[in-house]
Amino acid sequence: MLKANKNTPIDSQVVQRLVMESGLPEIGKGTIREIVRLVNRIEETTGEKFVRMEMGVPGLPPAQAGVEAEIEALRKGVASKYPMIEGVKELKEEISRFVKLFLNLDVNPEGCIPTVGSMMGSMAAFLVANRNNKSKEGTLFIDPGFPVQKQQVKVLGHEYCSFDIYKYRGNKLRAKLLSYLKTGKVSSILYSNPNNPSWICFTDEELKIIGELATEYDVVVIEDLAYFGMDFRKDFSRPGKTPYQPTVANYTDNYLLLISSSKAFSYAGQRVGMMVVADKLFSRKYPDLKRFYTSDGFGYSIIYGALYALSAGVCHSAQYGLTGILKEVNEGRYNYRDDVLEYGERAKVMKKLFTGNGFSIVYDMDMDEPIADGFYFTFSYPGFSGVDLIEELLYYGISAISLDITGSERHEGVRACVSQVQKSQFKILEHRLKVFNQDHA
Ligand SMILES: Cc1ncc(COP(=O)(O)O)c(C=O)c1O
Repeated sequence: MLKANKNTPIDSQVVQRLVMESGLPEIGKGTIREIVRLVNRIEETTGEKFVRMEMGVPGLPPAQAGVEAEIEALRKGVASKYPMIEGVKELKEEISRFVKLFLNLDVNPEGCIPTVGSMMGSMAAFLVANRNNKSKEGTLFIDPGFPVQKQQVKVLGHEYCSFDIYKYRGNKLRAKLLSYLKTGKVSSILYSNPNNPSWICFTDEELKIIGELATEYDVVVIEDLAYFGMDFRKDFSRPGKTPYQPTVANYTDNYLLLISSSKAFSYAGQRVGMMVVADKLFSRKYPDLKRFYTSDGFGYSIIYGALYALSAGVCHSAQYGLTGILKEVNEGRYNYRDDVLEYGERAKVMKKLFTGNGFSIVYDMDMDEPIADGFYFTFSYPGFSGVDLIEELLYYGISAISLDITGSERHEGVRACVSQVQKSQFKILEHRLKVFNQDHA
């Protein structure tokens, strides 16, 4: 509503009307999907294409081996059969191999479980990890983070707490974590690495702190590797060779990894991800689980309690699709990093376009290095809160989400996702940013 009478790149009357009709009290506080819906409507009404940076949809074709394997599985008739809840044997074995080759971890295929995206993985993890001890209450999120995971915890009726990591990097993390863990109320810790939205990457020192404290306070670490191998400053993509993707699993046995196929393999549409439960955690008995499940076993409750209740398994053909991809990746025939490197290249150019037109990068440093170029970056503009900036940018044909909804303390910030922005749109992005800067300087 800020620009309604001005001559902005997108018809301001239309934007104003549709913003009002959206019924959202504050657009900038809308969820990712609410912003997607609003921008779709503005695009349809005005015929103008936005520079869309609100949602992390892969902007690349899917890994071909997955498509081929899925078609073959469908032809063989898997569609008529219920898949096993714990996943098809071949996939479990390939996940276990993947984890050995790219994380250098030994995990029994039993604990390598497909989920309907990492979204379902986190839901199932909360359902079990937050119920294994009746004196504990819920999840500690190391923020900023992926907003819908807090939504999951809320709909489950669990408690959560969170803090923004930026001021607690390195050694400072220990005291900060302790301040929560000492309450004795934390059942699980969740963070993503690389971090959505700030793109900071945890160091081994930090992962060690998290791991050691998780063991000491008997907390389950849910490590969300949605952007597996996408810290492009290093190459984690060569099977069986160092460097490996950093992980808390090197420092605790209380880990549960969520490895998404959505971004690394551009396989978001098939909703198939991997949950990897440490052997010791998988076989551990928690008597308090019996309040909700037939068994006190952690792994058993994940599969035959949580995943059974959620969907009774994962789309059969998608499991074969993921198996097909993993076979190629594990054998070294398909290097997923070569494909997704494109995101880093886009980020590099886009950040320059923003900073060249009066914007600043919000999470600009990763310890003592400038933040890497990856799937997301964060920005701000002087005089605007992130929430207001989201709304104002709509008049300029640019969509993003505010950091406010990610648990960030940087209320001036906005998250930009580079994946849907094609190189052919850079000129138009530059033009729109220039006009924005002229109008507000
Ligand atoms: C940090 C994080 N976790 C989980 C997910 C969801 O992944 P999936 O598509 O595998 O459900 C995303 C997707 O954007 C994400 O950014």
